[in-house]
Amino acid sequence: MKKYIVVFEPSGLRISMDEQNTFLEAIRMVGLHLSSDCGGAGTCGKCSLVLQPAPEPTLEDERRISSGDLAQGVRLACQHRVMADTRVVITKRRGEVQILTEGVSRLEDWIPDTGGEGRYGIAIDLGTTTIVAYLLALGSGVQMSQLASLNPQVVFGEDVISRITHALREENGQVELSKRVTTEFDSMVGSLIEGSGIEMEYLTRMAIVGNTAMHHLLLRADVKSLGVTPYEPSIRDALVTSGSELGLLSAPNIEVYLPPNIAGFVGGDTVGFILSQRLDLSDQIVVGIDVGTNGEIVLSNRGELSCCSAAAGPAFEGATIRYGMRGQEGAIEHVLIENLEEPPEITVIGNVAPQGICGSAIVDTVAEMRRTGIINDTGGIQSVSPRVYRDDDFGLSYLLVEESDVSRKISFTQKDVRQVQLAKAAIHAGITILMQEAGVAVNDIDSVMLAGAFGSYIQPESALRIGLLPPIRREQIIQVGNAAGEGAKALLLSSEARKVAEDFVSKVNYIELASHKDFQSIFIESTNFS
Ligand code: FES
Repeated sequence: MKKYIVVFEPSGLRISMDEQNTFLEAIRMVGLHLSSDCGGAGTCGKCSLVLQPAPEPTLEDERRISSGDLAQGVRLACQHRVMADTRVVITKRRGEVQILTEGVSRLEDWIPDTGGEGRYGIAIDLGTTTIVAYLLALGSGVQMSQLASLNPQVVFGEDVISRITHALREENGQVELSKRVTTEFDSMVGSLIEGSGIEMEYLTRMAIVGNTAMHHLLLRADVKSLGVTPYEPSIRDALVTSGSELGLLSAPNIEVYLPPNIAGFVGGDTVGFILSQRLDLSDQIVVGIDVGTNGEIVLSNRGELSCCSAAAGPAFEGATIRYGMRGQEGAIEHVLIENLEEPPEITVIGNVAPQGICGSAIVDTVAEMRRTGIINDTGGIQSVSPRVYRDDDFGLSYLLVEESDVSRKISFTQKDVRQVQLAKAAIHAGITILMQEAGVAVNDIDSVMLAGAFGSYIQPESALRIGLLPPIRREQIIQVGNAAGEGAKALLLSSEARKVAEDFVSKVNYIELASHKDFQSIFIESTNFS
């Protein structure tokens, strides 16, 4: 029987199902909860969710779901069998996913522009998965509040390539993607302003950082060139526009600033990272890494900047890992294998029954499997533990969690290990090539800065053990949190920061890895664990 992949949002959990099963059954099988008071009879209307692609509505759908919601793909989970690869959005609750908002700040380095007294602004970090917005007093630079949310575009795919594909293939696809984000911005602006008791008329400025694809999709700019080599941005320069131009209904008169893009896959979020940590001014040799589906890597050779983008893929976000999920309640976040005979020690976000495994635990698991000899130098799983078993579809697998009344079985498969090898090799190769081009050896590195959610939640020891990072000492690794968001704040407050950013972007040496002569050989070498 044909199998289909069902991906659940916002958790990122996925399952392979055949058409015997309904979406309600699929939800139960992955351990998620959805109200179903009538037990699947189609009469309570409680099991509604968004299906993409959406099947034709049934009579029960039409009875219990408004026509507007039907048009948005809302259906009753109990009334539809899995007949295609489907993305399922169960709910949209802000704050459900663990979203990184804090970052190491050097905001005091920037003097707020004069004339900002009594005025307010919003700095936004527009990520592929999440959006973080900060409300700041423009006169003093004091942060009034902050808010985080999932990027609602996530229903069109987890990585930037699927979003670009949607924009190019679907009629109005790009307008739809842009609107999703501006609607979310409107909602966040409303909540921030309301919660702070500020009059909307005093909100005068916004600064947005995001990767180049998020930037282009927001602005409805041409994204064709981002999908083909040499992956050139269609807008490179910094941009000042207005809320109304952007499509913001909440603040049409606001001035909106977006910093320049460095390259097709190195955008304003990396500019924010460099700016917030002043990598442009450093008198040391620093490697800055922000690992997402795409890893942006910056090398500051005593202030001389070079950068690249490494296609790590979504393994570290759990997307290509059999039991992978985002960092939210129910996700295993850390793993320690004390004894090959016994279950590993795990910690779960929210201290609840585990549902899956998120990025930090994915790195831990591979590091621990390597440390204990469960995987060898080349990544092969060895039958050295009674917890290693053969899974017909996925090869040898290591059992992390046994099935019980409260949790499902969770294992780490040979295919998962291979996905991690490819992801870590891409990052490692990117770092190696930047160092090679700059004439920097591992011993010359003063520090490695890990930015972004993944970089903040992983255990540096595990990242070192799997060879994600060059072999430096643990003390040389600094986790700087949401550095892009901190950069957005600087850009919001200070015209000097904007000038500095535009200046270093014009000088940074961007290296295109895919066309680099040594990339393939370094990448292949980097897949091993030796
Ligand atoms: S479970 Fe009641 S309508 Fe689906």
